[in-house]
Amino acid sequence: MKQTNYTFCIPCLFGTEGLVSDELRRMKMADVKTEDGRVFFSGPFADCVRANLSLACGERVLLVLGTFPAPDFNSLFEGTRALPWPDLLPADARFPVTGYCLDSALFSVPDCQRIIKKAIVEKMKSRYSLQQFPETGAEYKIRFSVRKNLAMLALDTSGTALHKRGYRPAHTEAPLRETLAASMVRLSRYRGREDFCDPFCGSGTIAIEAAFAALNRAPGVYRDFAAEKWAFSDPVLWRDLRNEAICAEYSGDYRIFASDIDPLAVQIARENAVRAGVDHIVRFEIADARSFSRSAERGIIVTNPPYGERLLDHEQAEALYRDFGRAMADRENWALYLLSPDPDFETCFGRRASKRRKLYNGMIKCDLYMYFESRR
Ligand SMILES: C[S@@+](CC[C@H](N)C(=O)[O-])C[C@H]1O[C@@H](n2cnc3c(N)ncnc32)[C@H](O)[C@@H]1O
Repeated sequence: MKQTNYTFCIPCLFGTEGLVSDELRRMKMADVKTEDGRVFFSGPFADCVRANLSLACGERVLLVLGTFPAPDFNSLFEGTRALPWPDLLPADARFPVTGYCLDSALFSVPDCQRIIKKAIVEKMKSRYSLQQFPETGAEYKIRFSVRKNLAMLALDTSGTALHKRGYRPAHTEAPLRETLAASMVRLSRYRGREDFCDPFCGSGTIAIEAAFAALNRAPGVYRDFAAEKWAFSDPVLWRDLRNEAICAEYSGDYRIFASDIDPLAVQIARENAVRAGVDHIVRFEIADARSFSRSAERGIIVTNPPYGERLLDHEQAEALYRDFGRAMADRENWALYLLSPDPDFETCFGRRASKRRKLYNGMIKCDLYMYFESRR
């Protein structure tokens, strides 16, 4: 890889593109551009390492190898074969191909996978004088997209998705993806100054991500990434940037509270916080959110109560929103950011939100109901 400047692509959950581009700009990345469900930037390979270690809201970091029109299989094959695969992949590389097609003449993902694989093998044959490739070495996951007849081919530098921080082998029944929890915390503008609380904490994801935000923790600093095993990747670079991220952490006396009515959930959340190394700043307790009792005058609540899908039925969920609304009625100095797919949430809760923001929890379309009027 002689090139010194690359294009990178960060796929992200719908609704979080703006947050990911803010994170990248704060990291001083160049040429940040947003599309539906993904954000691009450019820079040296060190920026790819930084993004993997530090992004809280993005799903993975892709190294873009090429973009070209692909209205048919032939152009997909030729466009793929034209890319410099043997400069990137050693002869023993494992290179599974995955991707998706959207609004394009090519719509069969398995057929596109097959064509792309074949084109890469053809190109590799010309360099390695091999007829077959053993695929026994390091993994170079190839990701493709065909959107509006434009193909993009990329190497997945993250491997395991970025939301898998490594602290949550155990989770409760309806856990929130870590990147979505981090996005909700970002939207609440919590910076570690005031009291923070998740009264429906389940496996503790939101409180743990809030602790990361307070500490300025790079969420990926204690996990590994696919690109670390790649032939052209420099281990010293990864080590130095990891150390840099660790040195940039803050320490302080943060007030983060997490509670749940289910004792098992609280136990799991506490264990996850220990694994995440934030159990010293998150305080857990078994409590009923319907009698919210934090003594502080003001603070921030970020939470996702049961939806009436996986937990509780719809009526029970709405009754819970009503009771929680009553408990929060005299707590207008507490800002509230609550994720729910229920279009009637505000009616049940008893107050109109200051603002709403559409976010997807997996396939479930939700709104983040934001109450902050009295605080800004
Ligand atoms: C959707 S889950 C929260 C998932 C969590 N964000 C996570 O990432 O694991 C909702 C949680 O609310 C809890 N819950 C239900 N009723 C409650 C109540 N009255 N008070 C407090 N917690 C309650 C459930 O036990 C469940 O853990």
